[in-house]
Amino acid sequence: MKPGLNLNSIVVLTGAGISAESGISTFRDAGGLWEGHRIEEVATPEAFERDPILVWRFYSLRRLNAAIAKPNPAHQALVEFAAANPGAMNLITQNVDGLHQRADEREILSPICMHGSLNQSRCTDCGSVYFDDFAYFDLQGNYAPTQTVLCSTSQRSSSEYLHHYKLEYSKFLPLSPCCRMPLRPHIVWFGEVPLHMPKIERLLDSTQLFVSIGTSGLVYPAAGFLQAAKGIGARTVCINKEEIPQAAFIDEFIQGAATIKVREFLSSLESRNG
Ligand code: OAD
Repeated sequence: MKPGLNLNSIVVLTGAGISAESGISTFRDAGGLWEGHRIEEVATPEAFERDPILVWRFYSLRRLNAAIAKPNPAHQALVEFAAANPGAMNLITQNVDGLHQRADEREILSPICMHGSLNQSRCTDCGSVYFDDFAYFDLQGNYAPTQTVLCSTSQRSSSEYLHHYKLEYSKFLPLSPCCRMPLRPHIVWFGEVPLHMPKIERLLDSTQLFVSIGTSGLVYPAAGFLQAAKGIGARTVCINKEEIPQAAFIDEFIQGAATIKVREFLSSLESRNG
């Protein structure tokens, strides 16, 4: 580790903007709509109860889109920084696309996925979580389960990988191997509590530098992290294409594309501390 960078001193929060240049639409760019449905209509527990096929079609499409996307230089810059400064950086992501993990095959910077993961499903009965990278529906909405590339080979060969995609309930939806109950995407939906909050709160309580990248600052609790970090005296940096509502809590605002600005900022950090 470079002198001046302490263990666990940096906390990075990423949002959809870091994956935008990989070809994944951000929520605000998509206008909050999917096939004329408001996102809230397909990303809630009530939606899953009402119309699980619609919800699985939506997440199948998201799995397919994520599978064809590739990590970009912003994802890579974070991994390279973490490799050069072991233990200095913690990454929290709101993204479910798996691109941070795919940029990081050696698992140097395992992200805390506070909104879940597209490559996992969960039993609605007992809560068991499985690696599951099947798209159950194709782009036309037909039932056509195909394996994508969201899970690594080692995840696929693990016992928790869901091989039993042919188990079906009421018109071709997956059942859990544990309880034979419906599987749902392991995603935090509107109205649900994000994952790993105690761990995240501990990190925010001790960070010296908080960096927000590619997030609009509109969705809580993540939208409150800048203020929380500022409140304990951390330096706060925001890298984003446009200004966000938390301006009062940002020490340094870096406007621009994540693929360029993230690497530039991390290099400047290393030279400031070098
Ligand atoms: P948003 O779509 O709300 O915001 C993305 C932000 O990234 C915007 O402020 C853009 O200006 C910025 N941006 C776009 N392209 C960029 C680029 N190339 N470089 C840098 N910045 C760029 O996405 P999030 O803030 O991630 O929650 O949304 C937060 C949560 O809202 C999501 O995790 C999701 C959604 O509801 C759940 O699914 C639970």
